[in-house]
Amino acid sequence: MTEQASVLCFAGSLRTDSLNKKLVKIAMAGAKEAGARVTFVDLNELPMPIYNGDDETKSGLPENAKKFKKLMKEHDAFLIASPEYNSSVSAALKNAIDWASRPEPGEKPLEAFKGKVAGVMACSPGALGGLRGLVHLRAILGNIGTIVVSIRCTRDVVREISFQKQ
Ligand SMILES: Cc1cc2nc3c(=O)[nH]c(=O)nc-3n(C[C@H](O)[C@H](O)[C@H](O)COP(=O)(O)O)c2cc1C
Repeated sequence: MTEQASVLCFAGSLRTDSLNKKLVKIAMAGAKEAGARVTFVDLNELPMPIYNGDDETKSGLPENAKKFKKLMKEHDAFLIASPEYNSSVSAALKNAIDWASRPEPGEKPLEAFKGKVAGVMACSPGALGGLRGLVHLRAILGNIGTIVVSIRCTRDVVREISFQKQ
């Protein structure tokens, strides 16, 4: 019997009406249809302070960073929709990855990332549809042990999902 894959789905945007949240939910529905166990997490509901090594030394990981890392550890794969901000990933997404990459006692290094698979996608009304940010996201995740599969999203898709309700 094939084991059911588990997929954690999230977007790098905090915006309520985020195109990338809509995009990742479409991909999530596809993963569910294909038989995966899917979970959506909204980073706006897990606010984290900007990573500061002094704070980490003093207090360890913030509760929401622990929750996010735990979710990542509990899933086999990720679907991530990344908005493009000035040719790169959003600060919110990078910050969440930075916190989740920090080891806690009893954990292996990069336990939330190593050996996982991520499908990354982007959505932007800009000419390249957020593609440049994905180059960075692929490098970030690839360098911490996650196998990355890029899913391209065209401007037509942006137009289509702009009119969809969350
Ligand atoms: C600070 C900032 C920088 C941006 N830079 C880019 C960019 O480099 N390329 C691009 O295509 N869109 C850029 N955009 C537009 C966003 O991709 C667009 O607002 C998108 O809808 C944001 O994703 P969201 O809808 O999921 O929040 C930028 C937006 C902001 C706020």
